[in-house]
Amino acid sequence: MTALEQAAPGGYHGGVAPAISVEEVARQAQALARDVGIDELDALVGHQPHLRIDNLHAGYGQMEILHGLNLRVGRQQSLCLIGPNGAGKSTVLHSIFGFTDIYSGRICIERDGTQMDVTRMSSNQKLRSSGIAYILQDKSVFPGMTVEENLWMGGYLMPHTTEAKLAAEKVFDRYPRLAARRKHPAKVLSGGERRLLEISRALVMDPQILLVDEPSIGLEPRFIDAVFEILAELQHKDGKTVVIVEQNAKKGLEFADIGYVLVSGKLALAGRADDLLANPDVSRLFLGG
Ligand SMILES: Nc1ncnc2c1ncn2[C@@H]1O[C@H](COP(=O)(O)OP(=O)(O)OP(=O)(O)O)[C@@H](O)[C@H]1O
Ligand SMILES: [Mg+2]
Repeated sequence: MTALEQAAPGGYHGGVAPAISVEEVARQAQALARDVGIDELDALVGHQPHLRIDNLHAGYGQMEILHGLNLRVGRQQSLCLIGPNGAGKSTVLHSIFGFTDIYSGRICIERDGTQMDVTRMSSNQKLRSSGIAYILQDKSVFPGMTVEENLWMGGYLMPHTTEAKLAAEKVFDRYPRLAARRKHPAKVLSGGERRLLEISRALVMDPQILLVDEPSIGLEPRFIDAVFEILAELQHKDGKTVVIVEQNAKKGLEFADIGYVLVSGKLALAGRADDLLANPDVSRLFLGG
């Protein structure tokens, strides 16, 4: 690296304080990475994990993205994954839900006190029998369908439409804002309402583990807090286990109990979310401070 590049790590050579580039964040984050032991991950959970991943190698086709990933999250706990673009955060959620090619390793969930191996289950099996739901990064509602039709779609795996409709009514009871718009096409909803619909649709199946990719993406600040409040209520009042990926690392870590920093498909750091928020390196690289 030249002296000039050192002085301006983002590759910006003007007079204003440089914004740090994605590559530089990745490089510096890599330099922070250390071996995160399983004991350390277990200690963050404190008891039997609800969801655990052991030594997972996974990717897309021939391309391995996750290189021996371990993960632990307890029942009714929340975990936030942060890290540079392309680190493999979404790929972790995809792997849990069954959207990737898994080369080796195991994904297990705890059910009635025993570990259930879900590594090779299809996404539908996961949703139906192991209580895992995945809430997509963005734009997953059907814009031409009404709010209620979108909710019914959330119950497409149920044997009868009447069951899906009953489950949808329970969701409407809980979110009157959505109920008031049930006959409206989803495309007229505000950004915040649409995100609520995306989350609600997953709730129709009454999942125990929610995987949420970028809950705050594309939302105006006033809606971001509302979405995190909904997730917090699902965790603390309904006892759901929540794993999120969040570009807005500060909001994500403020919400979550524990945080992992992922770099190049490996765990670089893990800690209590409060400790990560207070970590100067994490702050500099991911919290914009
Ligand atoms: N469906 C796919 N097919 C092939 N490669 C993919 C696919 N999805 C992601 N990748 C690749 O996997 C790598 C990790 O991507 P991933 O989306 O998991 O990163 P991320 O940490 O979520 O990044 P971002 O913060 O930008 O969302 C990237 O190199 C990406 O190009
Ligand atoms: Mg992503």
